[in-house]
Amino acid sequence: MGFKALCLGIFCVIFISHIYTPLPVNIEETWKVMALDTIVKTCTFMATCFENIGIMQYEEFISMIFHLDYTQPQSDEYVTVMDTEFLDIPVRLYLPKRKSETARRAVIYVHGGAFCFGSFRQTAFDFLNRWTAKKLDAVVVAVDYRLAPQHHFPAQFEDVLTVVKFFLQPKILSKYRVDPTRICISGDSSGGALAAAVTQQVQNDPGIKHKIKMQALLYPALQAIESYLPSHRENEHGIILTRETAIKLISLYFTKDEALPKAIRRNQYMPLESKHLFKFVNWSILLPEKYRKDHIYTEPILGQASFSLPALMDSRASPLLAKDSQLQKLPLTYLLTCQHDLIRDDGLMYVSRLRNVGVQVAHDHIENGIHGALSYMTSPFYLHLGLKIRDKYISWLDKNL
Ligand SMILES: *[C@@H]1O[C@H](CO)[C@@H](O)[C@H](O)[C@H]1NC(C)=O
Repeated sequence: MGFKALCLGIFCVIFISHIYTPLPVNIEETWKVMALDTIVKTCTFMATCFENIGIMQYEEFISMIFHLDYTQPQSDEYVTVMDTEFLDIPVRLYLPKRKSETARRAVIYVHGGAFCFGSFRQTAFDFLNRWTAKKLDAVVVAVDYRLAPQHHFPAQFEDVLTVVKFFLQPKILSKYRVDPTRICISGDSSGGALAAAVTQQVQNDPGIKHKIKMQALLYPALQAIESYLPSHRENEHGIILTRETAIKLISLYFTKDEALPKAIRRNQYMPLESKHLFKFVNWSILLPEKYRKDHIYTEPILGQASFSLPALMDSRASPLLAKDSQLQKLPLTYLLTCQHDLIRDDGLMYVSRLRNVGVQVAHDHIENGIHGALSYMTSPFYLHLGLKIRDKYISWLDKNL
C-alpha cells in the first residue's frame, strides 16, 4: 500500500513537470500525445529511480506496466482466437470462421517492445491481429519470443525463426489451409528488426521450400552500430522514444555490461574490424536529401571500447548490415516510417538499400507520425494516427498479398 502511494505521488509530480514539453507543430491530437508522452517519460523516470534506489530493476518496473495491458484469447463472431505453442514458443492464432473455397492468405506478426518488453497479448496488438484476420480473411500467427535482459540476442531472432520455419512446413500450411504463395511477415519497431532479419534468413536458406511473398516493416529498428544519425539528433528528446531510453534498451538486448550504454552515448563503441560495415549505414549517401538537411556527416570513431561484442556486427541483429547479395533475394516490401521518430533513418536507409539492389519497396512516410503509434489504437490511449497507420498497412496488404 505504502509503495503504491509512493508511486502515485512520484508519478503525479513528474507528470505535471513533463506535460508542458512543446511538440512539433504538425502533431495532431496534441493533448493526447502530450499526455501519452508524459506518461511514458514519467514511467521511465520512475523505473530509473527505483533501479538507482535498489527497489527493482528498470526493466522489471516497465514490464509490470506492460502486463497490466495483457488480454486473454477471445474468439468473436468472425475469428477463432487461441493461444498455443509452435515448438514450445507461444503463439496466438487468429483463424477466420467464414468458410472458404480456396486456401487463405497468412500474416505472421512480430510485436515491438525494444526486445525487452511486450507480447501479442497487449490490447493493441490483439486488436491489430484480429483486425488483420477479419479484413483480409487471413490466418494470423502472432509470435512471442524470449525477452531481454533475461535472454540476450540472438534468442529473440531464434524464436521468431523457429516459429516461421515451423509454420512454413507444407503439412502445417495445409492444416490451417494457408496458400503457401501468399504469406507475409510483419513487425513493428524491434518486431520490425526481427521480421526483417528472419525474412533475410528464410529467403537465403536453400533448405526452406516455401518462401515469403512479402515483408511489412512498420517504423522498424534496423541497425545498432550508429547512434548519431540525423533522426537521433532531431529526436534526442523525442516523443515516446528518447535517445537515452533507446540506448538503455538496445544495450540490454546485447549485455548487462554498463560499459555498452556509456560508449553508445558517445557513439564510440564499435571495434576497428567493423569499419567495412559503416558503408551500410552511411546516411550521407543513403538518406534522401530532404532528411539529411544540414546535418554534418562524420566518420565513425572506432576501437575505443573496452569490451568485445561480436553480436553488434551481426546482420541478424542489424538487418541493415546484410550484403547486397543477401538483400537481392528479398521479397516485395512495405516499409512505413514516421517523421518524428528517433529510429526513422533506419527505415529510410533500408528503403534505399533495397531499391538499390532492385527489391520492390512500397514506402509510406507519415509526416506527423511518432514512434510506436500502433500501440495506441485502443482506449484509453487511442490516437487517430494509430488507426491511420493501421489502415495504410492493411489496405496495402489487401492489395498485394
Ligand atoms: C560516407 O560517404 C561519404 C560521401 O558522402 C564518404 O566521403 C565517406 O567516406 C563514407 N564513409 C563510409 C564509412 O562509408
